[in-house]
Formats: sequence, C-alpha cells, structure tokens
Amino acid sequence: MNKQTRRKVEIDGVTIYLAHPDELPMRWIGQQELMLQLHACWRLIDERDLPLSPRLIGKPGVGKTTLAYAAARQLGKEVYIFQATMDTRPEDLLITPVVAEGQKINYVASPIVTAMIVGGVAILDEGNRMSEKSWASLAPLLDTRRYIESIVAGVKVKAHPDFRMVATMNDDASTFEIPEYIHSRLQPQIYIDFPERDEELEILRENLPFVDEKILNYVADFLERCHASDEPYTVRDGINIARYVAKRLTTGRHNLQRLLQEATVKVLGESALRYL
Ligand SMILES: Nc1ncnc2c1ncn2[C@@H]1O[C@H](COP(=O)(O)OP(=O)(O)O)[C@@H](O)[C@H]1O
Ligand SMILES: [Mg+2]
Repeated sequence: MNKQTRRKVEIDGVTIYLAHPDELPMRWIGQQELMLQLHACWRLIDERDLPLSPRLIGKPGVGKTTLAYAAARQLGKEVYIFQATMDTRPEDLLITPVVAEGQKINYVASPIVTAMIVGGVAILDEGNRMSEKSWASLAPLLDTRRYIESIVAGVKVKAHPDFRMVATMNDDASTFEIPEYIHSRLQPQIYIDFPERDEELEILRENLPFVDEKILNYVADFLERCHASDEPYTVRDGINIARYVAKRLTTGRHNLQRLLQEATVKVLGESALRYL
C-alpha cells in the first residue's frame, strides 16, 4: 500500500499536520511575458519590499493554473494548490480539525497554510467560486500583516518570508461578487489571452506528444479560427478533441475528417462545426 505520512510542526504549543505539495508534470509554453510578470510580482527588490499576490484572469482552459504552477516550479519552490468551490468554508482555507485514533483531534493545515509555514507557493485556484465569508479569513494574509488566525486551532500563523501566493479566477459568470477590500489585496491582475497559432500548436504537442502532427495541425487551425471569431473555446477543448480523435483512430478504419467532426461535436456541440 502507498503509505504517506504527514509532516507536522508545532505552533504555540499546538501540533499542526501539513498538507502534501502538488507534484504535477506541467510546463508553460509560449507567452513568456506572462511568466515574467508573475515572477516580478513575487520578487523582492529591497529588504523593505513585500511580494505581491496577483490574480490570473482568463477564460476557463486558457492556462491559468498551468502558468501559476509552472512559474512557482521554475523558482524551485514547493507548490500547494487549493481548489476553491462554492462550499469552501473559512476553516477549509486555514486549519481543520480531524478526528484521529482514540477520539483525539488532529489539526490539519490547508494547502495555503502549509505553503505559509514551509515557505512555498500557494495557488488559490478558481477563487471566484468562493464566498466573501471565506475570503475574509485571508484578508490579513494578503496585506502587510502576512498572517492568518485559526479560531479552530487557536493559533496565529505567520507566513515564512519565502511564502508567495497567486489566485486564479475565471472570466465567466460562475462567480461570486468578490468584495472590493479583497480585490484591492489581489493585485495586480494578469490577463491571459489566447496564444498565437504556432504557440498553440506547441502547447498541443507538449500535452499530446504521442498524437499525429496532422491531427494537431488541424486542431491548431480550428482553434485559430475560433479565436478570430471570439469564441470561448480554448486549448483545453483542442486537447480533448485531439485526444479523442487519436483514441478513435485505434478502433478501426476511419476517415480523419469525419472523426474530427465527430470529436468537435462531442466536445463543443454542433455550433463549433463551422470552424473546422
Ligand atoms: N501555455 C501553455 N503551456 C502548456 N500547456 C498549456 C498552456 N496553456 C494551456 N495549457 C494546457 O491546457 C489545459 C488547460 O490549462 P489550465 O491551466 O488547466 O487552464 P485554466 O486553469 O485557465 O482553466 C491544460 O491541459 C494545460 O496543460
Ligand atoms: Mg484552472
């Protein structure tokens, strides 16, 4: 069996168990300017300076999580991703009590608090899904105070000087209105737009190195036409189409054109066919 043990630390006499870092095979292709912007936010240029915690904004599937993760790994840091949802409660973001053997209560740090303790990078992913109440618990962390207070565990946790944070937010309707005092703490905003065709082809190759070039080129052309018409389809949709086509090709003799049509309809619906 795969047995993982949690690291633990002691804060104010309370034992806190830590989360595991995320180990993902993610690389960022193209648009190096965005990488430089994110790194600049995190860099300290003077001993009196503080890092910025920016917001990555863009359509679902445009590469926000990938950029955040790859940027942190490029700096050699451990990365901790917290996936925000509508149901995220303030204590989920901070420290949760977990019943252990013998009715004992263990306190378990969230990915964000773990990153604060070890000096890693916290990615608050799809933060727009989370309510104002949850956001409020992060307010002191996101300004010059750089700490959080866990009511549940009765401790105040100060961020390690190397701690860095970034939030991603979808540019769509699936959002709570985030209050101004939080917006003003998540600055600057870094917008991710669609890549150029050649970069998009590179991204397809990176994610699907085992798929035929012909298919990848078809999909890159398709995405380029979609972007020109301002459709919300992203490289994630392109990856799904190409992956499905490649799988279907192994199930017998097929006409490639027809398979691309089938995959496009199955992933994006009939209305996307006009861009093939
Ligand atoms: N610039 C890029 N470099 C490498 N992969 C990318 C890039 N942009 C998007 N992807 C790929 O597209 C998919 C969606 O990216 P993701 O970061 O999950 O999007 P988002 O977080 O904006 O919804 C992933 O499979 C990711 O690997
Ligand atoms: Mg994402």
